[in-house]
Amino acid sequence: MINLSNFSSIFIANWKLNGNLDFIKEYYQKLLTNPNNCNIICSPVIYLNLLQTNEKNLFFGAQDVSVYNQGAYTGEVSAEMLQEKKTNFCLVGHSERRQYFQENNEIIKLKITNLINKNIVPVICVGETMEEKEKKITKSVLLRQLEEGLPDTSNYENTLIAYEPIWAIGTGYTPSLQDIQEVHEYIKKIDKKFNNFRVLYGGSVKSTNSRDINDLKSVDGCLIGGSSLKVEEFNKIIS
Ligand code: PGA
Repeated sequence: MINLSNFSSIFIANWKLNGNLDFIKEYYQKLLTNPNNCNIICSPVIYLNLLQTNEKNLFFGAQDVSVYNQGAYTGEVSAEMLQEKKTNFCLVGHSERRQYFQENNEIIKLKITNLINKNIVPVICVGETMEEKEKKITKSVLLRQLEEGLPDTSNYENTLIAYEPIWAIGTGYTPSLQDIQEVHEYIKKIDKKFNNFRVLYGGSVKSTNSRDINDLKSVDGCLIGGSSLKVEEFNKIIS
């Protein structure tokens, strides 16, 4: 498993269902990675092999994994298959998967277990809806997602947490810096086990706000969707 303590910050590009061969060629030519950071591209899984290279201090991640390891499960990709593709990271429980593919905490826990068993770092995504924020139940929502979603085998060396308020994803809105700091601190203090977990922030990160967000003491990096599709913008964020 990759040693997360080697990196000061961790930046993950989540391409979602975007990209094609021409896009990747151009992206890769222009990408300027930062050697102090852990720079991760989560491309659609079919492109993972194309991107495998050590040239730019770059790591690769999948956006999902099967709960199954083998068998008659049409369309699925197992943790072992990702491992064979030299995939070091995998997003789990992104809000789009929870919303459109009915992923619940039980499924998320199984996926994380499979990934850890194959030495792939799961990135568990947690976050509240606008309605939950307005009801002021953000912390209890996150607590439940983490307690039910993380298996006992998860620890700060093999798992990353991404706090992504659902209302901030793809909207251009972000919580205040103070709110981000408070939520990240809360996560790290949930219990002793969480003290050393690296917690990334995601949701409308762009080059104009990434520095302020990443400079917060309790923020260990960012998970970037839309802005990661523009390579010049992603270069600025990770520089
Ligand atoms: P966004 O997406 O940066 O476009 O808000 C973040 C994510 O979905 O991980």
